Amino acid sequence: MMNRSFASDNNAPVAPEILQAILDANAGDALGYGDDDWTRRAVARFKAHFGEDTDVYFAFNGTGANVVALSCAVRPWEAVLAPATAHIQTDECGAFERFTGSKVIPIPTRDGKLRIADLEPYLLGGHGEHFPQPRVVTVSMTTEYGDIYEKDELRELCDYAHGKGLYVHVDGARISNAAAALGATPREITRELGVDILTFGGTKNGLMGGEAVCFFRPELSAHAMPFARKQGMQLASKMRYIAAQFDALLAEDRWLRYASHANAMAQRLLAGVRDIPGVRITRPVRANAIFAIMDRPAIARAQEAFFFFIFDESKPEVRWMTHWATTEADIDAFAAAVRAASA
Ligand SMILES: Cc1ncc(COP(=O)(O)O)c(C=O)c1O
Repeated sequence: MMNRSFASDNNAPVAPEILQAILDANAGDALGYGDDDWTRRAVARFKAHFGEDTDVYFAFNGTGANVVALSCAVRPWEAVLAPATAHIQTDECGAFERFTGSKVIPIPTRDGKLRIADLEPYLLGGHGEHFPQPRVVTVSMTTEYGDIYEKDELRELCDYAHGKGLYVHVDGARISNAAAALGATPREITRELGVDILTFGGTKNGLMGGEAVCFFRPELSAHAMPFARKQGMQLASKMRYIAAQFDALLAEDRWLRYASHANAMAQRLLAGVRDIPGVRITRPVRANAIFAIMDRPAIARAQEAFFFFIFDESKPEVRWMTHWATTEADIDAFAAAVRAASA
């Protein structure tokens, strides 16, 4: 077992209530591929939250969920516009391009947040049939830099995209952290702002594994997603074990409890490191990630105590992440380790 790590929320263990839900689901036989009571219950929870007309599909992982979801909205000559820092652009190994034959078009941004002014030049259509036709805008909540779109910002982006005939997809690998930080529900920060498709993350918020794709425009999904998910190798035969986790996550606002805790731990860490000479915090700390620049020997010394990644080698900029299981004692020990490493 490793020390508490600050590398990623993927490194967290499974939350006890989620593990218990898996154990409880492990009774007797159940029909495969989602024709089971756990899947019906979990789908009902998503519909209760996002609206009865939400079309919900569970998937194994975030890359697969993003790719099969987006594949329903683009034809091979159409493209997805994404901030250049988006996970689908930088960390999914071209899966979208391979699976769909379409392109992700990376758009440079100031800080990882896509704004209308960033998008505009890509919608002028000057090259006609020679340019892949933009069809979807995708943004991440939280962003890859741990930031959050304010409600107004995302609403404006959705309105603009819709005005240009584009759909909006949110990669919500950390949608719960964003909602917790904004003091809002996942619905209030997606569907109600105009988002068309949401990948709702579970793995980074206490689950053993699982993501849920929510379509708020069933006309995009009903004829396509069942087949895209199967062809995209994201259809679980033993669906009950993914569904049982989401059933438990959405019950009793656990999604909120886990995410709020992770966010609070990031704030505690921020308070513990922000005044350390040699540590420069580089991004707004809104959810469960902190980015900082330190000198390389100090990074190496801190990494001896607790593992974390250098996010951008060129600066070097590190990323520290917290999660549902990070404790106050972990944070205090880590902040002390960073302080000692920087002395
Ligand atoms: C923004 C974002 N989207 C999606 C994912 C999901 O990736 P995976 O395919 O590893 O589950 C991640 C994981 O790091 C992520 O940070």
